Amino acid sequence: MVTISVCVGSSCHIKGAPEVIEKFQKLISDYDLYNLVELKGVFCLERCTEGVTIDIDGNIYSAVNPDAAVDIFRERVLAPLGLTPKTGDDNDGQ
Ligand code: FES
Repeated sequence: MVTISVCVGSSCHIKGAPEVIEKFQKLISDYDLYNLVELKGVFCLERCTEGVTIDIDGNIYSAVNPDAAVDIFRERVLAPLGLTPKTGDDNDGQ
């Protein structure tokens, strides 16, 4: 189980946390990973000035936007699971 925790503190919320959560929800749905990925909101990860902050199994990422979420998902979720990224259905131009 991979746990993706997205900060929903006020600073991250204003900087786009809802859109990042929406993107992760779509990715989890697209790859049908409901049983393997837990997505949850957490409060302040103490990097409020750095943009939307997320924690994936203890690894902190800052300044996350929906496009960066796709890259992080591929690196931290799909690759460890041995899954190949789909092409054409994400916002990264592939
Ligand atoms: S509000 Fe997100 S890190 Fe503080």
